Amino acid sequence: MIKKFTVIGAGTMGHGIAELAAIAGYDVWVNDISDEILLNARNKIAWSLSKLKKQEALERIHFTTNQEEALKDTDFMVEAVIEDIKVKSQVFNKASKLVSETAVLASNTSSIPISEIAKAVDRQERVIGMHFFNPPVLMPLVEIIRGEKTSEETVRIALDVAKNMGKETILINKDIPGFLVTRIMFRVNEVGCWLLDNKMAEVKDIDYTAIQVLQFPMGVFLLQDYVGLDVSYLIQKALIERGFEVYYCKSFEQKYNSKEFGMKSGKGFYTYKGKIIEPTLENAKLVDPALLVSSAINESYRLIRLRIVSKEDVGKGCKLGLNWPKTPEEYLKEFGLSTIIRNLKMLYESTGLPHFIPDEELTRSYS
Ligand SMILES: NC(=O)c1ccc[n+]([C@@H]2O[C@H](COP(=O)([O-])OP(=O)(O)OC[C@H]3O[C@@H](n4cnc5c(N)ncnc54)[C@H](O)[C@@H]3O)[C@@H](O)[C@H]2O)c1
Repeated sequence: MIKKFTVIGAGTMGHGIAELAAIAGYDVWVNDISDEILLNARNKIAWSLSKLKKQEALERIHFTTNQEEALKDTDFMVEAVIEDIKVKSQVFNKASKLVSETAVLASNTSSIPISEIAKAVDRQERVIGMHFFNPPVLMPLVEIIRGEKTSEETVRIALDVAKNMGKETILINKDIPGFLVTRIMFRVNEVGCWLLDNKMAEVKDIDYTAIQVLQFPMGVFLLQDYVGLDVSYLIQKALIERGFEVYYCKSFEQKYNSKEFGMKSGKGFYTYKGKIIEPTLENAKLVDPALLVSSAINESYRLIRLRIVSKEDVGKGCKLGLNWPKTPEEYLKEFGLSTIIRNLKMLYESTGLPHFIPDEELTRSYS
């Protein structure tokens, strides 16, 4: 039974997670390093709760700079501090000594393996990944990630908590870099980048195809401008360092080095003047949509074969985490296996990167 719920880190993600926990009815304790940050978090939560007409939930949230107080005897912790293994390990180590006997300790990390974070605590079976999307209050999905030692009981409790917060969940059985959703996003990016780096298409051609044919909610490059190319480039770098094999996007690196970070800096793959404007896709040409989505389809089937994610959860992750109108399986059916395999072979021959080799599960599940 969860009575006390603690969120460590009250930034972009932490304050939203705390709001969700309060709406779910938990007694929530939020900790950050300064009163100013906590006040800012409180104001944002109050504003959001008033929009949702759930102001009463604010009474269930306690804000404190005293981490011991926030963690003492807590039953469930979500850590949402900066993406730094040293800082996260300190938090988990402290939590390990203070929380209740049966507490679950979750991390909202985007790129650090859960098993690595778990090393900071005594009872590693209680540590799990809970990857919310930004903004947590509005995004419907949470990725639940097992570390090497995570117990079934911990998985069950984390799934329950996410459900109580009104979220859909997908279960990732191994803490692979990028989990599912980020990984699939980078699989589309890498093909877009490969086309761009090799001057086979322009940014607007790729985005036009993604929006018009694949019916993605945003173009491949427009999304990166929106996320911030500094953030995207550093995530790509972190995932590669952790063993993610991906086509290295030279265009991302160029943008990063020239400080063209996207909407926030006024220029990225598109130029933004004054207010954020929808970039024009006039005179854009179609690229092969099957090529653009081929590596993402291959990745999905590889993860299904390795039993890291179920087929159902792959589809759910793409629809709810990326807002795709179709699952990878549905795109595969639309474009046909032979077209996808031909594209993958072409990517493999051009780059020599083995992750482009068509996965055996692709052909097996389709026949
Ligand atoms: N921003 C996103 O879109 C997003 C999405 C999913 C997951 N994440 C992950 O969520 C985590 C938080 O990201 P964010 O975007 O909210 O970052 P953020 O920088 O907005 O917030 C981090 C907060 O942690 C606080 N903090 C730092 N050290 C602390 C400590 N020792 N004790 C308590 N608080 C401390 C900071 O003061 C800051 O307020 C990261 O691991 C990130 O990878 C981010």
